[in-house]
Amino acid sequence: MKIKPFKVEQWMNEFEDDAIYNIGETCVHSISLNELLELSGENTEEYIPKVLGKRLTYGHISGAPEFKEGICSLYERMKPQNILTTHGAIGANHLVLYSIVEPEDRVISVLPTYQQLYSIPESFGADVQLLKLKPENNFLPDLNELRDMVNEKTKVICINNPNNPSGSLIPEDMLREIVEIAENANAYVLCDEVYRGLTQEEGYSKSIVDIYDKGISVGSMSKVFSLAGLRLGWVAASEDIIAKCFEHRDYNMISCGMLDEIFAGLALKNADKLLKRNKSMVRRNLAVLDKWVNKETHMSYVKPQAGTTALLYYDYDIPSRAFCVNLMKNYGVLLTPGSCFELEKCARIGYACSTEILEQGLEKLSEYLKTL
Ligand SMILES: Cc1ncc(COP(=O)(O)O)c(C=O)c1O
Repeated sequence: MKIKPFKVEQWMNEFEDDAIYNIGETCVHSISLNELLELSGENTEEYIPKVLGKRLTYGHISGAPEFKEGICSLYERMKPQNILTTHGAIGANHLVLYSIVEPEDRVISVLPTYQQLYSIPESFGADVQLLKLKPENNFLPDLNELRDMVNEKTKVICINNPNNPSGSLIPEDMLREIVEIAENANAYVLCDEVYRGLTQEEGYSKSIVDIYDKGISVGSMSKVFSLAGLRLGWVAASEDIIAKCFEHRDYNMISCGMLDEIFAGLALKNADKLLKRNKSMVRRNLAVLDKWVNKETHMSYVKPQAGTTALLYYDYDIPSRAFCVNLMKNYGVLLTPGSCFELEKCARIGYACSTEILEQGLEKLSEYLKTL
């Protein structure tokens, strides 16, 4: 089956390892196991031998109970039977789309977003319609456009809240309107929520599954919890959706890594502490970025509301890929070209790295801008 190249991942494959100032990736500055143990208050000398003594079986097939309980604590109405663990959110998005989309179904996806949400259903022969998020609307969906796109064949509406790359956050009343539109078409809403919780203002935004029975939430340990190396994500949804996903998952996963799930369970037991660390990082770093954008006369952006990324627009006459390749090759600074999101005259910044790297990367970026 043919599928379009995954542009953002190919970009990262090509350049990420060589970056000196990586302000292109999207996780909140990752933590080590030592840091996780310290933050959790576990006594390492007691904890580690217990882990080392575990027999490495397949573990719990649908996900370790402690991990699933931790996931449930991030929602209002999810129970362990509503959760299926996966190999990252990338595995979860793939699994959901593979389990529910049939050829010729209509699938509506926001753009820009993580490319899986539109290129996977397209590869299955679905009729994919793109709902463009525009800077003039603060990268929020135009619901009249969405209403016009929905027809009786609409199977799923894919959204990403908070949005990667723009950092927009759909407010609850708008989310409820999207649900109403989906409900009228009897469609699912798949909401990629891997940045949920990383807000600039206080408050924990609603998950789609807490307001819609046909809502499907995809989450991850990578971004909000700084543990991408565990490669764990999940699907949270009604039991019948989980059953459909489980049937398909049997064919390509068996179970997630048992050790990964142990550490993820520990992390989510301490979710409040990790969230506190990470919210303060994204807020501190966004202040740094904001100051920088305001002083750079050739740059502008829609200030993000949440997540870890923003789209930086420039007024030079240069394609986004060339802009980013030159920056990377000459200054070792990694951004991600707008072209990876079907956009031009912009690049995505990931501002949740260490503050030091962000400051140094922006300084180098300023030097580069002077040469244009
Ligand atoms: C919106 C979105 N969804 C999913 C993923 C995949 O994340 P994971 O590391 O959990 O597979 C990413 C990673 O960048 C992302 O930005």
